[in-house]
Amino acid sequence: MSTTTTATTSTQTASTDNAELKKYLFRGEYDIHDLTFDRCEGIYLWDTDGRRYIDTAAGTFNLSLGYTNKEVVETAKEQCDKMIHLSSSYFNENVLQLAKKLVEVSPENLTRAHLKVSGGSTANEGAVKLSQYYTGKREVISYYMSHVGQTIFMQEASGLSFRRSKFDFGIGGISHVQYPYCYRCPYGHGNCENCGLECLNELKNYIAYGSSGDIACLIIEPIQGNGGNQVPPKAYFKELKKICDDNGIVLIFDEIQTGVGRTGKMYAAQHFDVQPNIITTAKGLGGTGFQIAGILMEEKFNRMESFLHSFTYGTNILSVTAALKTLSIIDDPKFLNNVTVCGQYIMDRLRKMQDKYEFIGDVRGVGLMIGFEIVKDRKTKKADRELTLQIVHRALDQYGLMLRSSLYGFGNVLKIRPALNITMDQCEEMMDILDECLASFDH
Ligand SMILES: Cc1ncc(COP(=O)(O)O)c(C=O)c1O
Repeated sequence: MSTTTTATTSTQTASTDNAELKKYLFRGEYDIHDLTFDRCEGIYLWDTDGRRYIDTAAGTFNLSLGYTNKEVVETAKEQCDKMIHLSSSYFNENVLQLAKKLVEVSPENLTRAHLKVSGGSTANEGAVKLSQYYTGKREVISYYMSHVGQTIFMQEASGLSFRRSKFDFGIGGISHVQYPYCYRCPYGHGNCENCGLECLNELKNYIAYGSSGDIACLIIEPIQGNGGNQVPPKAYFKELKKICDDNGIVLIFDEIQTGVGRTGKMYAAQHFDVQPNIITTAKGLGGTGFQIAGILMEEKFNRMESFLHSFTYGTNILSVTAALKTLSIIDDPKFLNNVTVCGQYIMDRLRKMQDKYEFIGDVRGVGLMIGFEIVKDRKTKKADRELTLQIVHRALDQYGLMLRSSLYGFGNVLKIRPALNITMDQCEEMMDILDECLASFDH
């Protein structure tokens, strides 16, 4: 048992209050946990029985400044008295300031921000529309195991069939290609060092021989998030950009998860030193949970009339104001350095755990975008989904540690993506508890 105050007792059972109320909420047949929370701060949450938990995943990877960040909350409270909503047909200075700030912190080639979107999925759809409008072409290339959203088009563009199999909307024109999954490289390399970028040959072949010949854009997560925290080799993006440019394909970076400081740079594009034509941003931009998203683009896309992609809650003034405050905090070398340093510490601790626990097959990440893979045996790299889920449940029930896995890929990658303003003491506390939890399994 951990000596920290966070961990709960091994006899703890899930908080099951509100049982009567729960029968009204649509949940279908999918329930992972049965906990109710009513208090939170930073990386911590308290359930209705007063037990404290540590969230390693910053909500849904969106709380860049943690739960109820005081600075953002105060700014939002003040804004509440002034204006919460304004039709995006009119101007408000905060919206203009946010567009300016977003352009300032993004790669140099991006000069415009479209903010009339309602979340990550609609930002990505807007990016596709901008590409089609600009190029006059149709087809979209995406990646196996990607998650680019859950609106109908983005569900089709995402790279796993389990979310599509029950529905049929007759959407065509989307193809998927191999993501550079280095640990399980289909070309047998197994690491980045001797990578021959063969997956890009596959992409080239697809463009030349398999595609419609009418490709508008390619959408890629620069680090594949839900698909298992895949980090491509740096050389991959240089070559990818060249292929896109040579073929008149708009390169869209989906930075819904990787953006706003998560990698220790404002955008992962800056980490990989590449200039995509469009970047989409959301999640972390809301700082402490405000709903906001945007599309950052090169000047040439500033043609499509904004009403062709416009949502009621895009440019919501409250969210915009929270995002401005969030960026003012994150766009600070000291803040971003903390992300890098804390990320390095967590990676080091995970690698030490990998030395002790045979079932950790791989540890990978950049900044605070980290994942580790649970395997049956390191030699065969066979994914151990069952053990992964056991770890998630035991960590929560016995150690008060919220870990996130996902149904994507082989379902065996645990993600560590905490709030970016996490302190070193908190990193240590989090890793101590994780270590203790993992030690309780056969290893
Ligand atoms: C990489 C990525 N793109 C897009 C989305 C969709 O964003 P939203 O849920 O805000 O529509 C997500 C959400 O998890 C994501 O992780």
